[in-house]
Amino acid sequence: MNILDIIAKKRDKKELTKEEIEYFIENYTKGNIADYQASSLIMAIFLNGMTKQETTYLTLAMANSGEVLDLSSLGKIIVDKHSTGGVGDKVSIALLPVVASLGVPVAKMSGRGLGFTGGTVDKLESIPGYKTQIDINNFVKNVENIGISMISQTLDLAPADKKLYALRDATSSVESIPLIASSIMSKKIASGADKIVLDVTCGSGAFMKNIEDARKLANAMIDIGNLANKETKCIISNMDEPLGKAVGNNLEVIEAIEFLSGKYMPQDLKEVVLELGSEMMLLAKVGDNKEKNKEKMLENIYNGKALQKFIDLVENQGGDISYIKDVSKFPKAKYIEPIYAQKNGYITEINAEDIGKVACNLGAGRVRKEDNIESEVGIILEVKIGYKVEKDSILAYIHANDISKLQDAKNKILDIIKIGDSIAKGRNTILDII
Ligand code: URA
Repeated sequence: MNILDIIAKKRDKKELTKEEIEYFIENYTKGNIADYQASSLIMAIFLNGMTKQETTYLTLAMANSGEVLDLSSLGKIIVDKHSTGGVGDKVSIALLPVVASLGVPVAKMSGRGLGFTGGTVDKLESIPGYKTQIDINNFVKNVENIGISMISQTLDLAPADKKLYALRDATSSVESIPLIASSIMSKKIASGADKIVLDVTCGSGAFMKNIEDARKLANAMIDIGNLANKETKCIISNMDEPLGKAVGNNLEVIEAIEFLSGKYMPQDLKEVVLELGSEMMLLAKVGDNKEKNKEKMLENIYNGKALQKFIDLVENQGGDISYIKDVSKFPKAKYIEPIYAQKNGYITEINAEDIGKVACNLGAGRVRKEDNIESEVGIILEVKIGYKVEKDSILAYIHANDISKLQDAKNKILDIIKIGDSIAKGRNTILDII
C-alpha cells in the first residue's frame, strides 16, 4: 500500500477500505507520511466526503492510534461532553464543575482553538500554573479524588487526531462532517467515556452553518456512538451570535467564573449549560428528570458548591486559585477601548464567525499551528441581537496589545454589529435535541 494511491483514490471520489484508512492513520501518526501528503488527503476527503462506513473506520483508527482508556476502575458511569466548537464557547468551564458538584464524575479531555473558534485548553492555560498535560494515571487519580479532571489530549490518547486537528486548522479543512465527527468521536472513544453528550453548534459562529447540516453531523456522531456501544445524545445550539459576552481566553475564563459563582449568567450561556448538564445527569443516572436536574444545578451555583468544585479542580492541577477568587488578578491587555453605536436603533446581527476572526487577529486564536495565543486579548460585547441602542452607547470593548490591530478591530466590529430600524428576533438558543 502507498499513500499516493490512497490520495489519488479519494481525489477520484472512490471509497477507501478499512485497511487503507488504517494504513494512513498509523503511518501519519508515526511520522512516515509527510504533512503535505496528509493535508492533500484531508482536502480530498473535505471535498469528496466519506461514507458512513469510511467515517466509522476513520474514527476507530484514530481512537486506536494510541492508548484507549479504561475508566471502569472508577466504578461509575462516565458521561463525557464535547462541543463542535463556537465563538465565546466557554460552556465546558461553566458546566462541568456544576455537574461534578452534583456527583457526575468528569474526566474531560479538551482541544485547543481551531480556526476562528476557541478551545477549552487554551482557556484553562490562561490560569497561571494550570497544567493541562498530566499523565493518564494522575488524570484518573484526580477524578477518583475530587470527581473532576480537565486536561488536553495527551500524546498517548488519539494522537492521530491531535496531529490531524492541527493540520486541518492550518489548511482550511475544518468544516467537514466526516472529519469533525471522526475527530470528536475518536477522542470520546479513546478517553473511556461510557456515554456522550454533544453540543452541536449551528449558525454563523459554528462549523455547521444551517440546521440541516447540524442534524447531519449530529446523526453521524450518534451512528458512530451506537457502533461503538456508547449512548450518545446531541443538543443543537444556536451559534448565530457569540455565546455570552466574552470572546478571548482570559475574558472567557472570567465570564465562566462569574457564571459559576452565580454573579452574572448570560441567558444564552445559562440555557446551554442547563440543557447539557441536565442531560449528562440523566445519562449518569443522577437525578430524576431534566427539570429537577436544572433546579439542582442552579442550587449548587447559588450555594457556592459549583465554584468550590472549580477551585478544587484548578488547585489539583497546579493552578493559582487566587486568580479564581479574585478575577481582577488576570493580566489585562495594553489597550481596552470602547466601541460606540453610530446611530439609534436595534441590534439586528452580530455575525459570530466575523467576531471570532477579529478575536483571532487580535491574537486570541491561531492563524498557523505554531502560533502563540495572547491570553489577555479579545472582545467584550455589551449588546446581543434584539437590544435597543442609542447613538453613542457602548456596543463592545476591544482588548488589544497592539495599536494597529486595535484600530483594525475597531473598524471591523463597527461593521459586524449591525443596527437596524426595527426589532430583530433572534433564534431560540436550543434548536433541537436528538
Ligand atoms: N472539535 C473537535 O474536537 N474536532 C473538530 O474537528 C471540530 C471541533
